[in-house]
Amino acid sequence: MKVYNQIAQLINSKVKELPLDDIKEILEVPPNTDMGDFAFPCFRLAKVFRKAPNIIASELAVGLKDEPMLDNVEVVGGYLNLFVDKAYLAKNIFESFCDKDVDYGTSEDSKGKTVVLDYSSPNIAKQFHIGHLRTTVIGNALAKIHTALGYKAVRVNHLGDWGTQFGKLIVAYKKWGSKDDIKSKGIDGLMELYIRFHDEAEKLDALNDEAREWFTKMENGNEEALELWNWFKEISMVDFNRVYDLLGVDFDSFAGESFYNDKMQPVVDELREKGLLEESEGANIVDLSDSDMPPVLITKKDGSSLYATRDLAASIYRKNTYNFDKCLYVTGLEQKLHFAQWFKVIEKMGYDWADQLHHIPYGLVSLKSGKLSTRKGQIILLEELLKEAIQRSEEVINDKNPNLENKEAIAKDIGIGAIIFNDLYNNRIKDVIFSWDKVLNFDGETGPYVQYTHARASSLLRKGEYTELNKNIDVSKLTDEYTINVLKVVEKFPSKVREAADKLEPSIITRYIVDVAQAFNKFYHENPILVDDVELKQARLTIAYIVKNVIKNGLDLLGINAPEKM
Ligand code: ARG
Repeated sequence: MKVYNQIAQLINSKVKELPLDDIKEILEVPPNTDMGDFAFPCFRLAKVFRKAPNIIASELAVGLKDEPMLDNVEVVGGYLNLFVDKAYLAKNIFESFCDKDVDYGTSEDSKGKTVVLDYSSPNIAKQFHIGHLRTTVIGNALAKIHTALGYKAVRVNHLGDWGTQFGKLIVAYKKWGSKDDIKSKGIDGLMELYIRFHDEAEKLDALNDEAREWFTKMENGNEEALELWNWFKEISMVDFNRVYDLLGVDFDSFAGESFYNDKMQPVVDELREKGLLEESEGANIVDLSDSDMPPVLITKKDGSSLYATRDLAASIYRKNTYNFDKCLYVTGLEQKLHFAQWFKVIEKMGYDWADQLHHIPYGLVSLKSGKLSTRKGQIILLEELLKEAIQRSEEVINDKNPNLENKEAIAKDIGIGAIIFNDLYNNRIKDVIFSWDKVLNFDGETGPYVQYTHARASSLLRKGEYTELNKNIDVSKLTDEYTINVLKVVEKFPSKVREAADKLEPSIITRYIVDVAQAFNKFYHENPILVDDVELKQARLTIAYIVKNVIKNGLDLLGINAPEKM
């Protein structure tokens, strides 16, 4: 951004009529360098100067012609295309990198701020399926992206660990379950019980009453009920943690829905005091008709609380505990209304931080039909998918590089990385179509492709015995088209991280890493690196070093490892 800012200042010194910020807003980076390194559109100035944009551009061109920072200026239509002196460009971008070296891409911009991220949040006793992958990896990436900007990130797994379904599970377990069976089958065993309960309850409605009774026992603190519930939770966590380990995802808190059991009554009282609570057929609701939304159910007829009540209590708890600057909720798009509703309730309660709550919705994962069906047919178990990705990666390694050391660990990095990269490649709101051919393609815009580029850069550095950043290179050796192109892409990294955080959109990083890899591969194709000319070799190895670090840091923001060898 340094050169960009300098160019904006230079233009500002010639057109004082337009504030610097406006200039920065309209100054463009053209898609290809034939149109200059920067292009300044003069259309907005036409009003100010009462002249045609191309005339203004021509006049500006005369004034800028002799600037040492510029090689050339051209007028095309109403645009002023600026060609920056290549050595100047290379030197400045290189210096920006040197300031941070291996930490390039991070900043302290948001130091002192806190973001709470609520993601993954699976439901206890239900399998973790491919749909859960999205919330988990998007939330994880957003946590890392914010951390890179200096935020303190608090990663919360809001486990779905309370509700009537546990009453059903207890009944089913007591009737048909066995301890050993559940121990050996884990969540699968719990799911079987749950499915059996539904089948049997269709024939015998009394089972539903029994389930309700058990849930009431749970709510009243009955020891047997709570012990079973706790055990179901433990069994589920063992399975979930295996998936989190595979994905390399962590949390700071597992305070799930049950954590708010004793924190909801104060919220209900507060709603009543503030005159927001209304009775409707024995239940308590908050009316939202003035916001064109259906009412939120706060307590049911029997007094029990709901999902939204827990979210209200949780947000107040989090505000008090973490004093967040933003609180993000990553879930599927189908929960859009739920979040809009209770965010509105927080606003109506008079909390000025209501606008710090953000729902981060995402689209569905669909599968190229048939190809991914598992034992269970429809539900694709995430763990199976991840393991298959690892196994397929191992096959590729055995085929292409059978003597690679640490094959297993690298296959894991590639397989898991490929799945995450694919998930984060498009705007999160778009549906993800999953196909193995695409995900594991080493030549496409994929995880393996960028990891491979990283490994290639690493290998060049090893061969060139380049271990740490050489700040004393001759930057005049970095002025050819391909090198400049790499540097210009590299320059964007810090602003891409900022943009990804502002838009809450990890795909900005994913796509950016592909740009870096492509620019480097072109550079590498045109410019031999391990040449005899010592100065040239050092300069080009430095490019490999920079690219290696940008890809590595970028992948890290997405929660993907970058192996040194592949
Ligand atoms: N457990 C919920 C589900 O699987 C997601 C919870 C999201 N977080 C929240 N605070 N509501 O659908």
